[in-house]
Amino acid sequence: MKLWGGRFESGPSEVFERFSGSLHFDRRLIEADIAGSKAFARALRRVGVLDDAELDSLLSAFDSILEDSRRPGFYDGATDEDVHTLVIRLLNARAGAAAAKIHTGRSRNEQVSLDTRLWLRAEIDRVLDLLAGLLESLLLRAQADPSAIVPGYTHLRRAQAVLWPHYLLAYFEMFARDYERFLQARARVNVLPLGSGALAGSGFPFDRPAIAGELGFAAVTNNSMDVSGDRDFALDFLYAASTTMLHLSRLAEDWILYSSDEFGWLELADGVTSGSSLMPQKKNPDSLELIRGKCGRVFGALTSLFLTMKGLPMTYNRDMQEDKEPLFDAAGQLALSLEMAAAVVATARLRPAPAAAAAEQSWTVATDLAEALSRAGVPFHRAHQLVGRLVLESVRAGRTPSSWTGAELAAFAPEFTPEMAALLDPAAGMKTREIPGGTGPQAVASALARAADRLLALRSSMSGSL
Ligand code: ARG
Repeated sequence: MKLWGGRFESGPSEVFERFSGSLHFDRRLIEADIAGSKAFARALRRVGVLDDAELDSLLSAFDSILEDSRRPGFYDGATDEDVHTLVIRLLNARAGAAAAKIHTGRSRNEQVSLDTRLWLRAEIDRVLDLLAGLLESLLLRAQADPSAIVPGYTHLRRAQAVLWPHYLLAYFEMFARDYERFLQARARVNVLPLGSGALAGSGFPFDRPAIAGELGFAAVTNNSMDVSGDRDFALDFLYAASTTMLHLSRLAEDWILYSSDEFGWLELADGVTSGSSLMPQKKNPDSLELIRGKCGRVFGALTSLFLTMKGLPMTYNRDMQEDKEPLFDAAGQLALSLEMAAAVVATARLRPAPAAAAAEQSWTVATDLAEALSRAGVPFHRAHQLVGRLVLESVRAGRTPSSWTGAELAAFAPEFTPEMAALLDPAAGMKTREIPGGTGPQAVASALARAADRLLALRSSMSGSL
């Protein structure tokens, strides 16, 4: 069956049908298509296109199609152009004459926007839930080792020591921003396009806010031409998905490094790693590598839709059908990656002793010492020089920071006081960083408490929405 044809003398060629058909992927929208069509049927009743009996027979036919669509083999042999056509074909077979009225004043251009929005809204809700799970795993990991010290890196060189929870909370911030981005994307998605017709607005006086209310949309779109030509709502989702994947990928990269023998201070659980078919000793971080790898796929989806939309004349063009496969793929890969990352975080174990040793041995205390000199009145540039010389001397002599005694420090340069030797322990210098947002132990303890509150607030911002 076709939703068009009167104007044609012959049917579509086999190659054109094969080339343009989208049922094999847009069938994923069937639940949304039926939910939207049921609401539309009610709207048709309200404007008098359908009577009560016709509405009833359409609604029960939609329900039976939905039920059947969940059975295996439902799509076997179906050759419909797209999911919208398939549903209407089945409706014709099951609802009798009323089925011929279902598309009154409606276009597939608005229908595909409606279906994609309904599907994407549910998908965003799933992502928000998974993101909240990841945020919780990060918090629990941080609470498990509240005072562990790890090296912080710049240029992948040990830079300054930080508390392990401070490092984890950095990712908490990133994923909390991602959560907010998805909430914003959701608000853009959650607008009813129905009533727009093909591009000029429907010729029937539908009560659009009533349809919106029925489908849980917060508002109705403002411009029918915009609806037919717009995929910004999908781009917003793909941008939020890409940024989340970027953060996941950087976490993955960190943990691949930290759990390697070269770093050696993080242990990944057996359950999220795999072995080698040849080398018996291997324990490979495949879960994290795949997260890093899938990142490219999601960025690709964003780029793909950008390129599809660029240069399209107003309003709908069939090019836009190419939005779905990247969107579906990105949403699926994102959800999987979030679930995987939460499992890795929940089961990883910090090895506090080698982590602290890595921080201690590499002069991550140098800045603490220079700042202590500065606080004692030495101009910072001079303090920087002095500590730099101390480090150079240590490197030459093969000495660790903690091997210096107070007396030796004072002998090295008169600006040093013996008490400054206490700062050769990274835990001491950290206490000078109690500034809000810093790695001081109290600052981190209150950041942890705030993060727990923020997670609750994010979660409750969702539970209230439709
Ligand atoms: N399958 C189409 C899509 O995904 C539905 C809209 C078709 N509209 C049209 N004018 N051919 O975009």
